[in-house]
Amino acid sequence: MRGCFSGSISRIALLACLALSASACVSAIPVPDTTDGVWSQSRWPESTVASLSRGRALYVNKCSGCHSLYVPSTIAASRWPAMIEEMTRRANLHPDERDLILRYVITAGRSGPAGAAHSVVSSSGR
Ligand code: HEC
Repeated sequence: MRGCFSGSISRIALLACLALSASACVSAIPVPDTTDGVWSQSRWPESTVASLSRGRALYVNKCSGCHSLYVPSTIAASRWPAMIEEMTRRANLHPDERDLILRYVITAGRSGPAGAAHSVVSSSGR
């Protein structure tokens, strides 16, 4: 089950979800923190918490028009690049926007599905 009803939810988040039931609630789309910044930077040196935050904002704004937002951890990291490439056309993304979104979803979703991160992580052993 992805989206609104996973994990602990506040009453307000629940109400927001019900009000916006056509799309996954934005609170299920993780906000990048320092740990995410460090993880991301080890893969993409120019990546920062700020650029991940821009990626998240773009993801929320550009990717929710036609369907629910996919919770990043529900899609294997190895599957994201091809999907984003396809959706880049649909969403008319600039290549820079595509990269920011891709880095955000891979970073935010690195904890799952099982083993997902390993398929994009290099031989650095992390
Ligand atoms: C113009 C409409 C539109 C926009 C904008 C859009 N999508 Fe999609 N998306 C679709 C449609 C239609 C499908 C399902 C059919 C398909 O896969 O062709 C889909 C499917 C998906 C899937 C599931 C694919 C699969 O194989 O399970 C993902 C993930 C996805 N979109 C991510 C995104 C992301 C990320 C963005 C923003 C960059 C985005 N979408 C923007 C129309 C859109």
